[in-house]
Amino acid sequence: MKFFIDTANIDQIKEAQDLGILDGVTTNPSLMAKEGIRGEQNILDHYKKICEIVQGDVSAEVISLNFDGMIREGEKLSALHPQIVVKVPCTKDGIKAIKYLSGKGIKTNCTLVFSPGQALLAAKAGATYVSSFIGRLDDIASDGIELIAKISDMYNYYGYETLVLAASIRHTMHILQCVEAGADVITSPLAPILGLLNHPLTDSGIEKFMSDYKKSCQ
Ligand code: G3P
Repeated sequence: MKFFIDTANIDQIKEAQDLGILDGVTTNPSLMAKEGIRGEQNILDHYKKICEIVQGDVSAEVISLNFDGMIREGEKLSALHPQIVVKVPCTKDGIKAIKYLSGKGIKTNCTLVFSPGQALLAAKAGATYVSSFIGRLDDIASDGIELIAKISDMYNYYGYETLVLAASIRHTMHILQCVEAGADVITSPLAPILGLLNHPLTDSGIEKFMSDYKKSCQ
């Protein structure tokens, strides 16, 4: 399973990268705004900065809502850096844009996917990743993890190469549930990833080893 960090925060990206387990980064316009990155040139520069920190794919989202704008933006984003993956929303124009961009050999991430039908269209259009937002489904009393399992089964059955990317992860348990549901990639804020480390028996075990070591030195 690949681990992406879902943030535009440089410190958190560096922290995850330093852990040695990071495979990529996803961003979206809300995450960029949260970091105070405004204006087209600053946004483009920020993507380049992220690409220089990590080695894997970095998703950069288009803002246009129509096909022409999406492909114009997508080609511009893709030309920024070889690690850039163009993130496109799952709309009619978005699917057309993914088909066009993937046909040009540009990696794409079909975002805001909430149903197996949307995921099917994304795969047929040749998306590299399909971003299914599990937390936002849970928010409306729908089952986000069940969607990951359904999409994974469908892609495996038909042999689609599109990778199932579980997004909108809110807590550590989501990550573990995504493992069981067959996600290829999780993209998560830093805290749920670090939460995987937590176990009271690890803490008490270290404490005991340290106190026994100190006793043996006396
Ligand atoms: O990757 C999508 C993610 O950023 C959305 O997360 O918590 O806003 O639903 P959230």
